[in-house]
This record gives sequence, structure tokens and C-alpha cells, in this order.
Amino acid sequence: MANKDYVLGVSDYELNRLKFQHGVWKEITDTFLDKLDITNGSKILDAGAGPGFVAMDLLGRVGTTGEITALEPSEMYVNYARDYAKENNIPNMKVVHGTVETAELPREYYDVIFARWVISFVPDADTFLEKLFASLKPGGIIAFMDYAYEGLALFPKGGAFDKMADAVRAYWVHGGGDPYIGARLPKMFRERNIDMKEYYPVAQCGGPSSGVFQWADKFFTVHIQQMVDLGIISQNNGDAMLADWNAHKQNKDSVFISPTITVILGKK
Ligand SMILES: C[S@@+](CC[C@H](N)C(=O)[O-])C[C@H]1O[C@@H](n2cnc3c(N)ncnc32)[C@H](O)[C@@H]1O
Repeated sequence: MANKDYVLGVSDYELNRLKFQHGVWKEITDTFLDKLDITNGSKILDAGAGPGFVAMDLLGRVGTTGEITALEPSEMYVNYARDYAKENNIPNMKVVHGTVETAELPREYYDVIFARWVISFVPDADTFLEKLFASLKPGGIIAFMDYAYEGLALFPKGGAFDKMADAVRAYWVHGGGDPYIGARLPKMFRERNIDMKEYYPVAQCGGPSSGVFQWADKFFTVHIQQMVDLGIISQNNGDAMLADWNAHKQNKDSVFISPTITVILGKK
């Protein structure tokens, strides 16, 4: 099975967007990381690590006897993570270039495997999960944060942006992914006898000055045009959606609600 290109693309802009995104979702992510039984000495795989922002945060949790592996297919993000490990002299942060599906992962090696905003992009989520699961120690934890892409809303309603959730879902599908993967994971866990210990939704909401609004702004101001360029929405619709978004940005009483992200934790 050939992997399609990662639909959001890789660029300096995207790297900075991921960094900003990491800050906006950090508290929610940290609360989830607290549940993963991470201790000094844990071996953790951050699958689809991007530039490695979660991997970097995990270093403090495993101590010098533990080990973090950041696995990532984008060369640019791999270089960013490698430079970070080198410049900060961190020998226990490994950075591996590759996809989950094609990388040579050790069998039954990791205590914890984590992937945030990755499995919704892959064309074959079953293979992705099985590959990771094989690499997890018996008793180890596998943990995902990813979309069940419902709930996205911009208030006051009534403009072109009301159709945005449909467009973004089509964007994910265009890239071969599944924007509803978060709602399929419990079944996928059950079918493989992965013991589901946690499953809950997270979302954020706020006005134009909030982190979550600005996170959305960094996405829509670039990715609406990318959806137009890929033929997912027409130029007219894209322009109308962006104009509606920009008008809401000027209204201090606007409210943006993020799509739902499901958080799931299973034990082998
Ligand atoms: C939205 S970014 C999230 C990055 C990081 N997990 C985070 O939360 O900051 C998605 C990442 O998944 C990576 N990716 C896409 N397909 C992948 C695959 N099949 N295996 C591993 N990583 C993949 C992309 O290169 C990209 O860096």
C-alpha cells in the first residue's frame, strides 16, 4: 500500500503552526500523559512525532535512564528534532526517519507508545495500529489523541464558515485519512484484545483573543486555500469561508469551538 503524501504538507509555516498548536493543547496533553504510567527508565515511542515537541516534553518524565524515540517521515521535522537532541546534548532521545508502516521497529520493546494527530492521516489505520502494537511490551500502554471531527463551530452562525467541518473532513479523506478515526478506535482495540482503560473527548472554546481561536486562525488562513488548490472546495466557497472567518475575528463576541479530539489509552 503506497502512502499518499501527508496532506497538510511540510514547511517552515507548518512547523511553526505545530509549535503553536503544541502550546495551545499542552495542558490537555500533559493531563493525558499523566495517565500513561510513565516512570524513570520508561522507553517511549512518539509515533509521527513531527518536530518532536511531545517527545521533548517526555524527556523530563523518563529521566536519564529512560529513552524517547521520535519516529517521523518528514526529513525537515527529523532534522529539527535531531538538532534539538544534539544541541542540548540528549543522548537518550533517538530520532528515526520513517513511517510507522515501513520503519523497522523492535518487537515488544516500548513501555509506552503515543501518537497525537497522526492515525487520522494514515490510509490504513489497522496496519498502523498492528505495527505499533507489535512493538509494545506486554503490559505496555498505547495511547492516541485524534479527531472524531464533530463539534467544530463558529458563532454567531449563519455564514459560509458553517460548512467548514464538511470541507475539513473532505480534506482528511482526500489525503487518505479518516477524520472520524477517534470513533473507530474502541472497536479496533476490542478486535485486538487491547484493554481500553481510558476514552474521553477533549475540546476547547474561546473568543478571538484565545489560544484556541488563534490556533484555528493559523490553520484556516493557509489550509482553506490548500483545500481550494486540491479541488476540495471552489475558490468562491473558499473566499467566502475565509471572509466569514476574518469578519468573526473582528467581533470580540465571536466564539470558536474546536472539533472533538478523542483520547484513548489501552493496555497490552
Ligand atoms: C499534525 S502532525 C502532528 C505531529 C505531532 N504528533 C504533534 O502532535 O505535534 C502529523 C505528523 O504525522 C506524520 N505522519 C504522517 N503519516 C505518518 C505515518 N504513516 N507514520 C508516521 N508519521 C506520520 C507527519 O509527517 C506529521 O509530522
